Formats: sequence, structure tokens, C-alpha cells
Amino acid sequence: MRPHWSLDPPITFLNHGSYGATPRVVQAAQQRWRDRLEAEPVRFMSDELPPALDAALASLATFVGVSRDNIVLVENATAGANAVLRSIDWQRGDRVVIANHGYPALKNTLRYLAQTRGIEVIEAPLPWPITDATQIVDAYVGALDGARLVVIDHIFSPLAFAIPDDALAAILDACRARGVKVLVDGAHAPALLPLQLDALVAQGMDWYVGNCHKWLCAPKGAGFLYAAPHAQAGLHPTVISNYFGEGFQREFAWCGTADPSARLCVPDAIAFLNGLGLPRYRSHLKTQAADAARLIADAWQVQLGAPLDWCPSMVTIPLPIDEAASAEGVARWRNRLLAEHRIEVPIHPLAGRLWVRISAQVYNELSDYEALARAALTLR
Ligand SMILES: Cc1ncc(COP(=O)(O)O)c(C=O)c1O
Repeated sequence: MRPHWSLDPPITFLNHGSYGATPRVVQAAQQRWRDRLEAEPVRFMSDELPPALDAALASLATFVGVSRDNIVLVENATAGANAVLRSIDWQRGDRVVIANHGYPALKNTLRYLAQTRGIEVIEAPLPWPITDATQIVDAYVGALDGARLVVIDHIFSPLAFAIPDDALAAILDACRARGVKVLVDGAHAPALLPLQLDALVAQGMDWYVGNCHKWLCAPKGAGFLYAAPHAQAGLHPTVISNYFGEGFQREFAWCGTADPSARLCVPDAIAFLNGLGLPRYRSHLKTQAADAARLIADAWQVQLGAPLDWCPSMVTIPLPIDEAASAEGVARWRNRLLAEHRIEVPIHPLAGRLWVRISAQVYNELSDYEALARAALTLR
């Protein structure tokens, strides 16, 4: 599969998770959109873009199981989550819950709201390593009292696991019982998890953000924001532009002049994955991630941090080194693996030590993970 991507041949690329990587066929589709735009920019933006965006949205809506009216395209999950969090009429002392391992960008948005609007941020204390789904439920539910909103990471970035469906349902139940609003951050979920977002609303979810540029393999700059019908009033993009006050769909369709080609390629990315066979894609990634993690954990004689069954495409594994976690260690290990072994893999500081997060993608081979297993041992 590797020739379908334009990844640098000498690099062992084990980090699809951070920014995705776009197949050549989707890159070519993006170039065609750019060519059309530049041939007649005014005609494109005024006449061709609205129906093209509509078609992209219709295809994405079907893919994530939602009515077309409840979803908009945004540049990325951060933009979608910021739109939700910064549209709420916060009162001083309102409480918002996010996990200790929640995505740092969204924790910063909440920190900003704490400084500017006086909200109180409560961390749901997820243990790491983790063995049991009740630990996830207990961490969130134990933090919900008096909360106005909870932000739930569907797949945790550093921990690489997805909250199992029954645990997510239990958390949503607890939120509904307490009248707590729910924003799910599903940055990694599209294409990895079989999303049925309208069904999650019935369980108590209000908003969901996702990225198409990670596992759906769209070009960078393609994400979405889903808002349940009852949660669309008062919801605005963080950039207010020409269509302010004209409704959820119109406002988000235009946030000022920008290159829309990544968003327009979402149907091409979906077609690429459908060509591979979506169920086959999902099961291949999950199996390959698990096989790779077992291989590495055996070589390094370490224990994994979470059950492999929760990991759709990435696994976080402790490095076999006796070194305390530090920002400097994170940078040094990533740089050494890249410079000395040409392996691109992210390092995370967790529970006092350093961990690698491997990604499995169809362009990877088991030999890529064998290379990482060997390399870390030689670097000790
Ligand atoms: C859980 C989670 N949320 C949000 C993001 C942010 O994604 P983006 O930078 O595309 O907005 C990421 C990116 O890795 C993530 O893992």
C-alpha cells in the first residue's frame, strides 16, 4: 500500500495519528479543486463552492450517521470545539469537566474561559495504566456534580484508547440524569469507529467534533462539528463573518476567504477507504496495532497501559529505559529515533515515565515495528 502515499521512503512512519497522511489519489483530487478555484476565483467562491460544499457535507453526513442539517465542516476539531465552548453564555463559577488526559488544546480553551469568564475547570482523574472500563466511568461520573458541561475524549490522544461503547453510554446516562451538557471530542474517531451520531444524541450527547484529516485520510484542514438540533441556537464559529445570524449552516459555511479544497475532498477520502473496504480497513488497523504492540512489549519486556481491545489503531507503550518523564526527554528520544534510526514516532510523558505511541496504517508492515523494537534497545 505504501506507493499509494507520498511518504518519504527512508522514513519508518509510525505516526499517522498526529496529522494523518493523505493518499496520492486524494492529493490529486485536492489539486483539481485548487485548479478550478484559481481558474476563476470569483465564479468558484460564489457559484461553484456552495453546491460543492453541500455535496461534501451530504457524503460526510451519511458516513457518520447524521442528518445533513446537523453537521458543518470546519478546519479541524480544535476549531469545532472552540466554537462550542466559546458560544456558551458562561456564568462565573460554571463548572466544566475534562479528563486529566484530555487534549491539551481544549484544556487551554477551558483555561482561557476560566481567565476571561470565570468558569471552574474540574479534571476527571483517569488512572494510567488502566485495566477496566469502570475506571473510566467512575473518573467522569465522580467529577460531574454541579457541572454544566463535560468534554469527553472519544479516543484519548496520548493514551490511544477509545472509550468502550458501554462505558460511554454509562457516562452519557449520568450526564443526562444530572442535566450536564456533553461535548464529545472525537478527533481520531471518524473512519476508526462506526459513528452513529444521531443515536448518541438520544443517549445524551449535545455536540461532537471530529477530524477527517486523520484516519479518514482527507487533506489537512478538514474537520466537522455536529450539533444536535436543540444545541444549534446561539452556536457560532469563532470567526464571525458575512453570514452572522443566518443560522448554523450558513455561518459555518463561510468564515472568511480560505482554501476550501481539503473540505471538498472528504468524498474522495471516503471513496478511497470504501475502495479498501471500510470494515476490512478497521479490522486490519486494529489487528496490526495489537500485533505490533505485543511484538514490541515482548522485545522490551514491558506491560501495556490499556487493554488492546480498546485500541482501534494506536497503542501507547512504555519505553524500555530508566528515565523519568520530562519535556526534554520527550524531545530527545523523538529526535534520536528520527536522526539515528529514521523512525518517526511520538513520545509521551505519562505516569512519571516515557512512552511511545505507535500508529498502525495500511502502509505499515510488521517490519516497521520490529525496527522500532530494535532501535529503542540500541539507544539505551
Ligand atoms: C483528542 C484530540 N482532540 C483534538 C485534537 C486536535 O486536532 P486538530 O489539531 O486537528 O484540531 C487532537 C489531535 O490529535 C486529538 O487527539
